[in-house]
Amino acid sequence: MAKEREQWRSRVGFVFAAAGSAVGLGNIWRFPTAAGLNGGGAFVLVYLILIFVIGIPLMMVELTLGRRTKRSVIGAFKVLKQGSPWWLVGALGVISGFVILSFYSVIAGWCLAYVVSYATGQFSGLSPGGIEDQFLALVSNPVIPVLWHALFMAMTIGVVILGVAKGIERWSKILMPILLVLLVVLAVRSVTLEGASEGLYWLLRPDFTRLDFLTILGALGQVFFSLSLGMGAMLTYGSYLSKKENIPGSAAYIALTDVGIALLAGLIIIPAVFAFGLDPDTGPPLIFITLPAVFQSIPLGNFFGLMFFLLISIAALTSAISLLEVVVAWSIDELGWQRRRSTILSGLAIFLLGIPSSLSEGVWADFQIIGLNILSFADSLTANLLLPLGGLLTTIFVGWVWGAKKAVGELEESGDSFAFGGVWSVLVKYVMPLILIYILYTGLFPG
Ligand code: TRP
Repeated sequence: MAKEREQWRSRVGFVFAAAGSAVGLGNIWRFPTAAGLNGGGAFVLVYLILIFVIGIPLMMVELTLGRRTKRSVIGAFKVLKQGSPWWLVGALGVISGFVILSFYSVIAGWCLAYVVSYATGQFSGLSPGGIEDQFLALVSNPVIPVLWHALFMAMTIGVVILGVAKGIERWSKILMPILLVLLVVLAVRSVTLEGASEGLYWLLRPDFTRLDFLTILGALGQVFFSLSLGMGAMLTYGSYLSKKENIPGSAAYIALTDVGIALLAGLIIIPAVFAFGLDPDTGPPLIFITLPAVFQSIPLGNFFGLMFFLLISIAALTSAISLLEVVVAWSIDELGWQRRRSTILSGLAIFLLGIPSSLSEGVWADFQIIGLNILSFADSLTANLLLPLGGLLTTIFVGWVWGAKKAVGELEESGDSFAFGGVWSVLVKYVMPLILIYILYTGLFPG
Protein backbone atom coordinates (compact mmCIF):
# COMPACT_ATOMS: atom_id res chain seq x y z
CA MET A 1 0.00 0.00 0.00
CA ALA A 2 1.46 3.31 -1.01
CA LYS A 3 -0.51 5.49 1.31
CA GLU A 4 0.52 5.67 4.95
CA ARG A 5 -2.10 3.89 6.98
CA GLU A 6 -4.35 6.12 8.97
CA GLN A 7 -3.81 6.03 12.74
CA TRP A 8 -5.83 6.91 15.76
CA ARG A 9 -5.14 10.48 16.80
CA SER A 10 -4.87 9.78 20.47
CA ARG A 11 -4.83 7.01 23.00
CA VAL A 12 -8.15 8.07 24.46
CA GLY A 13 -9.57 8.22 20.97
CA PHE A 14 -8.68 4.61 20.33
CA VAL A 15 -9.93 3.33 23.66
CA PHE A 16 -13.20 5.17 23.22
CA ALA A 17 -13.66 3.92 19.70
CA ALA A 18 -12.92 0.34 20.67
CA ALA A 19 -15.18 0.63 23.69
CA GLY A 20 -17.71 2.22 21.36
CA SER A 21 -17.50 -0.86 19.18
CA ALA A 22 -17.91 -3.15 22.14
CA VAL A 23 -20.71 -1.25 23.84
CA GLY A 24 -23.91 -1.43 21.89
CA LEU A 25 -27.03 -3.47 21.49
CA GLY A 26 -24.99 -6.41 22.71
CA ASN A 27 -24.94 -4.90 26.18
CA ILE A 28 -28.26 -3.21 26.38
CA TRP A 29 -30.46 -5.44 24.27
CA ARG A 30 -28.70 -8.78 24.03
CA PHE A 31 -27.26 -9.24 27.53
CA PRO A 32 -30.56 -8.87 29.43
CA THR A 33 -32.29 -10.95 26.77
CA ALA A 34 -29.73 -13.75 27.01
CA ALA A 35 -29.69 -13.63 30.81
CA GLY A 36 -33.48 -13.83 30.72
CA LEU A 37 -33.53 -16.80 28.38
CA ASN A 38 -30.79 -18.67 30.21
CA GLY A 39 -31.96 -18.47 33.75
CA GLY A 40 -30.22 -15.44 35.24
CA GLY A 41 -27.48 -15.79 37.86
CA ALA A 42 -25.82 -18.96 36.60
CA PHE A 43 -25.56 -17.44 33.14
CA VAL A 44 -24.09 -14.24 34.52
CA LEU A 45 -21.47 -16.15 36.49
CA VAL A 46 -20.32 -18.22 33.52
CA TYR A 47 -20.30 -15.10 31.38
CA LEU A 48 -18.02 -13.31 33.86
CA ILE A 49 -15.62 -16.27 34.04
CA LEU A 50 -15.44 -16.49 30.25
CA ILE A 51 -14.77 -12.74 29.97
CA PHE A 52 -11.52 -13.26 31.90
CA VAL A 53 -10.47 -16.60 30.51
CA ILE A 54 -11.39 -16.00 26.86
CA GLY A 55 -12.63 -12.47 26.24
CA ILE A 56 -9.81 -10.25 27.49
CA PRO A 57 -6.96 -12.51 26.30
CA LEU A 58 -8.60 -12.83 22.88
CA MET A 59 -9.00 -9.10 22.59
CA MET A 60 -5.24 -8.81 23.10
CA VAL A 61 -4.71 -11.50 20.47
CA GLU A 62 -6.70 -9.53 17.92
CA LEU A 63 -5.24 -6.13 18.76
CA THR A 64 -1.64 -7.34 18.53
CA LEU A 65 -2.24 -9.19 15.32
CA GLY A 66 -3.75 -6.05 13.81
CA ARG A 67 -1.02 -3.74 15.02
CA ARG A 68 1.75 -6.06 13.96
CA THR A 69 0.48 -6.54 10.41
CA LYS A 70 -1.24 -3.20 9.82
CA ARG A 71 -3.69 -5.03 7.65
CA SER A 72 -7.36 -5.78 7.70
CA VAL A 73 -8.67 -9.12 8.70
CA ILE A 74 -7.75 -11.13 5.61
CA GLY A 75 -4.49 -9.36 4.90
CA ALA A 76 -3.26 -9.90 8.44
CA PHE A 77 -3.18 -13.66 8.01
CA LYS A 78 -1.64 -13.36 4.56
CA VAL A 79 1.21 -11.15 5.77
CA LEU A 80 2.31 -13.51 8.51
CA LYS A 81 1.76 -16.76 6.63
CA GLN A 82 2.02 -16.27 2.92
CA GLY A 83 0.59 -18.83 0.56
CA SER A 84 -1.32 -20.68 3.26
CA PRO A 85 -5.07 -21.09 3.66
CA TRP A 86 -5.06 -19.09 6.92
CA TRP A 87 -6.54 -16.09 5.14
CA LEU A 88 -9.81 -18.03 5.14
CA VAL A 89 -10.14 -17.16 8.84
CA GLY A 90 -10.27 -13.55 7.72
CA ALA A 91 -12.86 -14.43 5.09
CA LEU A 92 -14.95 -16.04 7.80
CA GLY A 93 -14.70 -12.79 9.75
CA VAL A 94 -15.90 -10.70 6.83
CA ILE A 95 -18.86 -13.04 6.38
CA SER A 96 -19.68 -12.85 10.11
CA GLY A 97 -19.55 -9.06 9.94
CA PHE A 98 -21.98 -9.05 7.04
CA VAL A 99 -24.47 -11.30 8.78
CA ILE A 100 -24.25 -9.62 12.19
CA LEU A 101 -24.70 -6.14 10.85
CA SER A 102 -27.68 -7.23 8.76
CA PHE A 103 -29.82 -8.14 11.75
CA TYR A 104 -28.13 -5.70 14.12
CA SER A 105 -29.31 -2.86 11.96
CA VAL A 106 -32.88 -4.16 12.08
CA ILE A 107 -32.88 -3.98 15.87
CA ALA A 108 -31.16 -0.62 15.86
CA GLY A 109 -33.97 0.48 13.53
CA TRP A 110 -36.51 -0.44 16.23
CA CYS A 111 -34.59 1.83 18.59
CA LEU A 112 -34.80 4.68 16.11
CA ALA A 113 -38.53 4.09 15.79
CA TYR A 114 -38.81 4.32 19.57
CA VAL A 115 -37.03 7.66 19.54
CA VAL A 116 -39.82 8.99 17.38
CA SER A 117 -42.52 7.27 19.42
CA TYR A 118 -41.20 9.03 22.51
CA ALA A 119 -40.79 12.35 20.80
CA THR A 120 -44.45 12.18 19.81
CA GLY A 121 -45.68 10.84 23.16
CA GLN A 122 -47.09 7.59 21.81
CA PHE A 123 -46.42 5.59 24.94
CA SER A 124 -48.16 8.00 27.30
CA GLY A 125 -50.53 6.23 29.65
CA LEU A 126 -50.11 2.75 28.18
CA SER A 127 -50.04 -0.33 30.42
CA PRO A 128 -47.23 -2.87 29.89
CA GLY A 129 -49.72 -4.89 27.83
CA GLY A 130 -50.50 -1.86 25.69
CA ILE A 131 -46.81 -1.23 25.14
CA GLU A 132 -46.37 -4.83 24.06
CA ASP A 133 -49.20 -4.51 21.52
CA GLN A 134 -47.67 -1.37 20.14
CA PHE A 135 -44.26 -3.00 19.85
CA LEU A 136 -45.68 -6.02 18.06
CA ALA A 137 -47.60 -3.78 15.69
CA LEU A 138 -44.36 -2.01 14.83
CA VAL A 139 -42.11 -5.01 14.23
CA SER A 140 -44.67 -7.11 12.41
CA ASN A 141 -45.36 -4.39 9.88
CA PRO A 142 -43.77 -5.46 6.58
CA VAL A 143 -42.61 -2.00 5.53
CA ILE A 144 -42.02 0.43 8.39
CA PRO A 145 -39.25 -1.43 10.24
CA VAL A 146 -37.48 -2.00 6.92
CA LEU A 147 -37.42 1.76 6.40
CA TRP A 148 -35.92 2.28 9.86
CA HIS A 149 -33.36 -0.40 9.06
CA ALA A 150 -32.56 1.52 5.85
CA LEU A 151 -32.13 4.75 7.77
CA PHE A 152 -29.82 3.14 10.30
CA MET A 153 -27.66 1.62 7.55
CA ALA A 154 -27.52 4.98 5.80
CA MET A 155 -26.24 6.60 8.99
CA THR A 156 -23.63 3.87 9.44
CA ILE A 157 -22.46 4.30 5.86
CA GLY A 158 -22.23 8.05 6.38
CA VAL A 159 -19.90 7.80 9.35
CA VAL A 160 -17.71 5.11 7.82
CA ILE A 161 -17.19 7.18 4.68
CA LEU A 162 -15.71 9.96 6.80
CA GLY A 163 -12.92 7.59 7.84
CA VAL A 164 -11.35 6.49 11.05
CA ALA A 165 -10.32 9.56 12.95
CA LYS A 166 -12.84 12.09 11.77
CA GLY A 167 -15.85 9.82 11.89
CA ILE A 168 -15.44 7.04 14.37
CA GLU A 169 -13.11 8.59 16.87
CA ARG A 170 -14.82 11.93 17.32
CA TRP A 171 -18.33 10.61 17.81
CA SER A 172 -17.36 7.90 20.22
CA LYS A 173 -15.59 10.33 22.48
CA ILE A 174 -18.56 12.62 22.86
CA LEU A 175 -21.39 10.18 23.29
CA MET A 176 -20.20 7.31 25.41
CA PRO A 177 -20.02 9.25 28.69
CA ILE A 178 -23.55 10.59 28.34
CA LEU A 179 -24.89 7.07 27.90
CA LEU A 180 -23.14 5.92 31.04
CA VAL A 181 -24.71 8.61 33.20
CA LEU A 182 -28.18 7.84 31.92
CA LEU A 183 -27.72 4.13 32.57
CA VAL A 184 -26.74 4.75 36.16
CA VAL A 185 -29.80 6.92 36.76
CA LEU A 186 -32.08 4.27 35.29
CA ALA A 187 -30.49 1.43 37.21
CA VAL A 188 -31.08 3.27 40.46
CA ARG A 189 -34.73 3.76 39.55
CA SER A 190 -35.23 0.20 38.45
CA VAL A 191 -33.77 -1.50 41.51
CA THR A 192 -35.87 0.70 43.77
CA LEU A 193 -39.14 -0.26 42.09
CA GLU A 194 -41.48 -2.19 44.31
CA GLY A 195 -40.95 -5.91 43.76
CA ALA A 196 -37.59 -5.36 42.09
CA SER A 197 -35.58 -7.32 44.65
CA GLU A 198 -36.82 -10.63 43.31
CA GLY A 199 -35.32 -9.75 39.95
CA LEU A 200 -32.12 -8.69 41.60
CA TYR A 201 -31.75 -12.08 43.26
CA TRP A 202 -32.64 -13.82 40.05
CA LEU A 203 -29.91 -11.96 38.18
CA LEU A 204 -27.17 -12.04 40.77
CA ARG A 205 -27.64 -15.27 42.70
CA PRO A 206 -26.52 -18.24 40.61
CA ASP A 207 -29.00 -21.08 40.59
CA PHE A 208 -26.79 -23.99 39.63
CA THR A 209 -29.70 -26.20 38.73
CA ARG A 210 -30.06 -23.91 35.72
CA LEU A 211 -26.48 -24.51 34.66
CA ASP A 212 -26.41 -26.71 31.58
CA PHE A 213 -24.52 -26.77 28.34
CA LEU A 214 -26.83 -24.30 26.64
CA THR A 215 -26.19 -21.78 29.41
CA ILE A 216 -22.46 -22.11 28.80
CA LEU A 217 -22.86 -21.82 25.04
CA GLY A 218 -25.10 -18.79 25.47
CA ALA A 219 -22.60 -17.15 27.81
CA LEU A 220 -19.75 -17.79 25.40
CA GLY A 221 -21.72 -16.32 22.50
CA GLN A 222 -22.50 -13.29 24.63
CA VAL A 223 -18.80 -12.76 25.43
CA PHE A 224 -17.88 -12.80 21.74
CA PHE A 225 -20.77 -10.67 20.63
CA SER A 226 -20.45 -8.13 23.37
CA LEU A 227 -16.70 -7.63 23.10
CA SER A 228 -16.82 -7.57 19.28
CA LEU A 229 -14.52 -10.57 19.08
CA GLY A 230 -14.00 -13.41 16.64
CA MET A 231 -14.48 -11.58 13.36
CA GLY A 232 -11.63 -9.14 13.13
CA ALA A 233 -13.26 -5.94 14.36
CA MET A 234 -10.66 -5.54 17.10
CA LEU A 235 -7.99 -6.75 14.70
CA THR A 236 -8.94 -4.01 12.25
CA TYR A 237 -9.02 -1.39 15.01
CA GLY A 238 -5.62 -2.66 16.18
CA SER A 239 -4.24 -2.07 12.71
CA TYR A 240 -4.69 1.66 13.22
CA LEU A 241 -2.88 1.52 16.56
CA SER A 242 0.54 3.04 17.20
CA LYS A 243 3.41 1.12 18.73
CA LYS A 244 3.28 3.32 21.79
CA GLU A 245 -0.04 1.91 22.88
CA ASN A 246 -0.15 -0.46 25.83
CA ILE A 247 -2.40 -3.19 24.48
CA PRO A 248 -2.99 -5.28 27.63
CA GLY A 249 -4.00 -2.19 29.57
CA SER A 250 -6.34 -1.00 26.85
CA ALA A 251 -7.91 -4.43 26.41
CA ALA A 252 -8.64 -4.74 30.11
CA TYR A 253 -10.08 -1.27 30.20
CA ILE A 254 -12.32 -1.83 27.18
CA ALA A 255 -13.57 -5.17 28.43
CA LEU A 256 -14.32 -3.93 31.93
CA THR A 257 -16.23 -0.96 30.56
CA ASP A 258 -18.21 -3.32 28.39
CA VAL A 259 -19.01 -5.71 31.22
CA GLY A 260 -19.92 -2.85 33.52
CA ILE A 261 -22.41 -1.48 31.02
CA ALA A 262 -23.93 -4.90 30.37
CA LEU A 263 -24.41 -5.46 34.10
CA LEU A 264 -25.96 -2.01 34.42
CA ALA A 265 -28.37 -2.82 31.62
CA GLY A 266 -29.17 -6.07 33.38
CA LEU A 267 -29.83 -4.14 36.58
CA ILE A 268 -32.20 -1.89 34.70
CA ILE A 269 -34.13 -4.53 32.79
CA ILE A 270 -34.40 -7.60 34.99
CA PRO A 271 -35.63 -6.04 38.25
CA ALA A 272 -38.18 -4.11 36.18
CA VAL A 273 -39.33 -7.33 34.51
CA PHE A 274 -40.13 -8.78 37.91
CA ALA A 275 -41.61 -5.59 39.30
CA PHE A 276 -44.06 -5.39 36.41
CA GLY A 277 -44.87 -9.08 36.41
CA LEU A 278 -43.42 -9.64 32.93
CA ASP A 279 -41.65 -12.75 31.76
CA PRO A 280 -37.81 -12.77 31.69
CA ASP A 281 -37.65 -15.28 28.84
CA THR A 282 -39.50 -13.13 26.34
CA GLY A 283 -36.51 -13.06 23.97
CA PRO A 284 -35.54 -10.20 21.66
CA PRO A 285 -38.58 -7.95 22.39
CA LEU A 286 -37.79 -7.94 26.13
CA ILE A 287 -36.22 -4.51 26.48
CA PHE A 288 -38.63 -2.86 24.09
CA ILE A 289 -41.50 -3.77 26.38
CA THR A 290 -39.85 -3.52 29.78
CA LEU A 291 -38.06 -0.23 29.39
CA PRO A 292 -41.08 1.85 28.43
CA ALA A 293 -42.80 0.42 31.50
CA VAL A 294 -39.91 1.66 33.65
CA PHE A 295 -40.05 5.09 32.08
CA GLN A 296 -43.74 5.34 32.82
CA SER A 297 -43.00 4.87 36.47
CA ILE A 298 -40.76 7.90 36.76
CA PRO A 299 -41.34 11.62 36.53
CA LEU A 300 -40.38 13.00 33.13
CA GLY A 301 -40.56 9.43 31.82
CA ASN A 302 -41.16 10.52 28.27
CA PHE A 303 -38.08 12.67 28.29
CA PHE A 304 -35.95 9.86 29.75
CA GLY A 305 -37.37 7.45 27.22
CA LEU A 306 -36.47 9.75 24.40
CA MET A 307 -32.93 10.23 25.68
CA PHE A 308 -32.45 6.56 26.33
CA PHE A 309 -33.46 5.33 22.92
CA LEU A 310 -31.50 8.09 21.30
CA LEU A 311 -28.39 7.05 23.19
CA ILE A 312 -28.76 3.35 22.48
CA SER A 313 -29.28 4.17 18.84
CA ILE A 314 -25.99 6.01 18.99
CA ALA A 315 -24.28 3.21 20.91
CA ALA A 316 -25.56 0.86 18.23
CA LEU A 317 -24.15 3.18 15.59
CA THR A 318 -20.64 3.16 17.06
CA SER A 319 -20.81 -0.65 17.06
CA ALA A 320 -22.28 -0.90 13.58
CA ILE A 321 -19.45 1.28 12.34
CA SER A 322 -16.92 -1.30 13.50
CA LEU A 323 -18.82 -4.09 11.80
CA LEU A 324 -19.01 -2.23 8.51
CA GLU A 325 -15.40 -1.07 8.89
CA VAL A 326 -14.20 -4.70 8.80
CA VAL A 327 -15.88 -5.29 5.48
CA VAL A 328 -14.79 -1.92 4.11
CA ALA A 329 -11.17 -2.21 5.28
CA TRP A 330 -11.05 -5.60 3.61
CA SER A 331 -12.34 -4.32 0.28
CA ILE A 332 -10.01 -1.32 0.38
CA ASP A 333 -6.92 -3.40 1.20
CA GLU A 334 -7.68 -6.49 -0.85
CA LEU A 335 -9.76 -5.28 -3.76
CA GLY A 336 -8.15 -1.88 -4.03
CA TRP A 337 -11.49 -0.03 -3.98
CA GLN A 338 -11.88 3.54 -2.82
CA ARG A 339 -13.28 3.97 0.68
CA ARG A 340 -16.42 5.62 -0.62
CA ARG A 341 -17.28 2.96 -3.09
CA SER A 342 -16.50 0.10 -0.69
CA THR A 343 -18.66 1.59 1.99
CA ILE A 344 -21.68 2.25 -0.16
CA LEU A 345 -21.63 -1.09 -1.92
CA SER A 346 -21.10 -3.20 1.18
CA GLY A 347 -23.61 -1.15 3.15
CA LEU A 348 -26.21 -1.69 0.47
CA ALA A 349 -25.60 -5.43 0.36
CA ILE A 350 -25.93 -5.65 4.13
CA PHE A 351 -29.16 -3.70 4.03
CA LEU A 352 -30.64 -6.19 1.55
CA LEU A 353 -29.50 -9.15 3.65
CA GLY A 354 -31.22 -7.62 6.68
CA ILE A 355 -34.66 -7.44 5.09
CA PRO A 356 -35.51 -11.11 5.75
CA SER A 357 -34.59 -10.63 9.42
CA SER A 358 -36.98 -7.74 9.63
CA LEU A 359 -39.77 -9.66 7.95
CA SER A 360 -39.18 -12.63 10.23
CA GLU A 361 -40.80 -10.68 13.08
CA GLY A 362 -44.00 -10.42 11.08
CA VAL A 363 -45.10 -11.88 7.77
CA TRP A 364 -42.28 -14.45 7.68
CA ALA A 365 -42.55 -15.47 11.32
CA ASP A 366 -43.50 -19.02 10.41
CA PHE A 367 -40.35 -19.62 8.48
CA GLN A 368 -38.10 -21.23 11.06
CA ILE A 369 -34.68 -22.83 11.12
CA ILE A 370 -33.90 -25.13 14.06
CA GLY A 371 -36.91 -23.62 15.80
CA LEU A 372 -35.74 -20.02 15.41
CA ASN A 373 -37.02 -17.27 13.16
CA ILE A 374 -34.56 -15.76 10.68
CA LEU A 375 -33.43 -12.95 12.96
CA SER A 376 -32.78 -15.20 15.95
CA PHE A 377 -31.16 -17.78 13.72
CA ALA A 378 -28.76 -15.20 12.25
CA ASP A 379 -27.97 -14.09 15.79
CA SER A 380 -27.31 -17.61 17.10
CA LEU A 381 -25.41 -18.70 14.03
CA THR A 382 -22.96 -15.84 14.38
CA ALA A 383 -22.65 -15.50 18.16
CA ASN A 384 -22.68 -19.18 19.02
CA LEU A 385 -20.85 -20.62 16.05
CA LEU A 386 -19.08 -18.30 13.60
CA LEU A 387 -17.53 -15.94 16.15
CA PRO A 388 -16.23 -18.67 18.49
CA LEU A 389 -14.89 -20.51 15.45
CA GLY A 390 -13.16 -17.37 14.20
CA GLY A 391 -11.80 -16.76 17.70
CA LEU A 392 -10.52 -20.33 17.98
CA LEU A 393 -8.70 -20.19 14.67
CA THR A 394 -7.24 -16.75 15.38
CA THR A 395 -6.00 -17.95 18.76
CA ILE A 396 -4.37 -21.01 17.24
CA PHE A 397 -2.81 -18.83 14.57
CA VAL A 398 -1.28 -16.46 17.07
CA GLY A 399 -0.30 -19.15 19.59
CA TRP A 400 1.19 -21.65 17.19
CA VAL A 401 1.72 -20.24 13.73
CA TRP A 402 2.92 -16.73 14.38
CA GLY A 403 4.05 -17.87 17.83
CA ALA A 404 3.07 -16.77 21.32
CA LYS A 405 6.62 -15.54 22.01
CA LYS A 406 6.59 -13.15 19.09
CA ALA A 407 3.13 -12.00 20.03
CA VAL A 408 4.29 -11.19 23.56
CA GLY A 409 7.18 -9.27 21.99
CA GLU A 410 4.68 -7.22 19.98
CA LEU A 411 2.60 -6.65 23.11
CA GLU A 412 5.69 -5.23 24.81
CA GLU A 413 6.57 -2.88 21.94
CA SER A 414 5.08 -0.01 23.88
CA GLY A 415 7.97 -0.31 26.30
CA ASP A 416 5.82 -1.51 29.19
CA SER A 417 6.67 -5.04 30.13
CA PHE A 418 3.67 -7.33 30.16
CA ALA A 419 3.56 -8.89 33.60
CA PHE A 420 1.09 -11.60 32.58
CA GLY A 421 2.98 -12.59 29.42
CA GLY A 422 3.53 -16.13 30.68
CA VAL A 423 -0.06 -16.67 31.73
CA TRP A 424 -1.32 -15.17 28.53
CA SER A 425 0.87 -17.49 26.43
CA VAL A 426 -0.46 -20.54 28.23
CA LEU A 427 -4.02 -19.32 27.77
CA VAL A 428 -3.49 -18.64 24.09
CA LYS A 429 -1.68 -21.85 23.28
CA TYR A 430 -3.61 -24.32 25.39
CA VAL A 431 -6.47 -23.17 27.57
CA MET A 432 -8.46 -21.05 25.15
CA PRO A 433 -8.26 -23.47 22.21
CA LEU A 434 -9.27 -26.39 24.41
CA ILE A 435 -12.27 -24.60 25.90
CA LEU A 436 -13.40 -23.33 22.52
CA ILE A 437 -12.97 -26.71 20.85
CA TYR A 438 -14.90 -28.38 23.64
CA ILE A 439 -17.79 -25.92 23.48
CA LEU A 440 -17.96 -25.84 19.69
CA TYR A 441 -17.76 -29.63 19.45
CA THR A 442 -20.44 -30.21 22.05
CA GLY A 443 -22.63 -27.55 20.45
CA LEU A 444 -22.36 -29.09 17.00
CA PHE A 445 -22.59 -32.72 18.07
CA PRO A 446 -24.76 -32.82 21.17
CA GLY A 447 -25.04 -36.15 22.95
N1 TRP B 1 -20.15 -5.57 20.39
C1 TRP B 1 -21.23 -4.88 19.78
C2 TRP B 1 -22.39 -4.82 20.76
O1 TRP B 1 -22.24 -5.28 21.84
C3 TRP B 1 -21.63 -5.48 18.46
C4 TRP B 1 -20.46 -5.65 17.58
C5 TRP B 1 -19.73 -4.67 17.01
C6 TRP B 1 -19.87 -6.87 17.24
N2 TRP B 1 -18.71 -5.24 16.31
C7 TRP B 1 -18.77 -6.56 16.44
C8 TRP B 1 -20.15 -8.17 17.55
C9 TRP B 1 -17.96 -7.56 15.97
C10 TRP B 1 -19.33 -9.16 17.07
C11 TRP B 1 -18.25 -8.87 16.29
O2 TRP B 1 -23.42 -4.34 20.45
